[in-house]
Amino acid sequence: MTGRDRSQPSRLTRADLAALPNYVPGRSPADLARELGMTEAIKLASNEVPFGPLPGVVEAVAEAAAGAHRYPDLAAVALREALAEQYGVAADRIATGCGSVALAEHLTRVTTLPGDEVVYSWRSFEAYPIITATSGATSVRVPNTAGHGHDLTAMADAVTDRTRLIFVCNPNNPTGTSVRRAELDRFLDTVPDDVLVVLDEAYREFVTDAEVPDGLTAYGDRPNVVVLRTLSKAWGLAGLRIGFLVAQPEVATAVRKVVTPFSSSVVAQAGALAALTQAEEVRRRCALVVAERDRVTEALRKLLPEVPTSQANFVWLPLPTLPGGVDRAVQFGRVCESRGVIVRPFPGEGVRVTIGTAAENDAFLAVAETALLFN
Ligand SMILES: Cc1ncc(COP(=O)(O)O)c(C=O)c1O
Repeated sequence: MTGRDRSQPSRLTRADLAALPNYVPGRSPADLARELGMTEAIKLASNEVPFGPLPGVVEAVAEAAAGAHRYPDLAAVALREALAEQYGVAADRIATGCGSVALAEHLTRVTTLPGDEVVYSWRSFEAYPIITATSGATSVRVPNTAGHGHDLTAMADAVTDRTRLIFVCNPNNPTGTSVRRAELDRFLDTVPDDVLVVLDEAYREFVTDAEVPDGLTAYGDRPNVVVLRTLSKAWGLAGLRIGFLVAQPEVATAVRKVVTPFSSSVVAQAGALAALTQAEEVRRRCALVVAERDRVTEALRKLLPEVPTSQANFVWLPLPTLPGGVDRAVQFGRVCESRGVIVRPFPGEGVRVTIGTAAENDAFLAVAETALLFN
């Protein structure tokens, strides 16, 4: 038998996938602590909240686990009804999924065919290029403004006959910037009715600027707007994987059709139901995060004045590569890690740092001072 030339790429999977970036998860703090011989490391890399699960979640999950030999409710009826009540929308406008990232992927799948275009600002959420490419569509990336936010005028100009989907990440991951009501109104008015606009509001609960619209109340009546939300961030359920979207019934039905069957597990649905009874506690926790965000921003600006205002639970340190080729973002990340603090560098661009507890933020700020000295 003549073997295949193993120096050539395999044809078992699509050749174009080789060019795709990998989604980069935050590093495990246990691993880093072991490596450094420390008792514990601090993880400020994945935009999680630092307080542990909400009251009642662990008990609900444990109880639901007793039914783990049964499939979950495919239509997540109880969960959709609880979300409908929480957000004041009809349950038939809601689709739930295995994290909002899965729903973003499903939205791409229900709107695009190969060759169609998906417009988004860049730098933004790292999943957008991956899910666009895997659906066979083409990414149209519109560079962020000098202030690290969406350039909605340029995004409107980038819409063509091939555009099927637009992501507006508000607040934007990883820069924390947000678009305000007047500019978003103007933008939405220019988008053709048959192009779906996804307002990705994963960090909505941390927004304190009254001019930054809540997509559900501001644009709920626009047929081509979908609001994407998650229970991973403010609601503290990142490990359980529940996201949801609110759209016109036609769009929500299409998404529910393509969701991987049973991808919201028995325990995830139970945990989400328990979390949704804790809205008051979520507000209390978000207020703590916001106060820390503003404190950290102020302290960082003394070291790096270009730090933009964040409306999310993280801050962005713009650290572009120096003319001599020194990658300041990577270097900053390395110094932080060497001191037991895991942040999220984006090579050549900057570093995203999640807001943790006050003690974790103090530890980060102490390291940041040193790390910026090296820059
Ligand atoms: C802007 C944005 N959208 C969506 C997600 C996905 O979150 P999840 O899949 O945990 O709901 C993230 C996660 O980091 C995000 O930053």
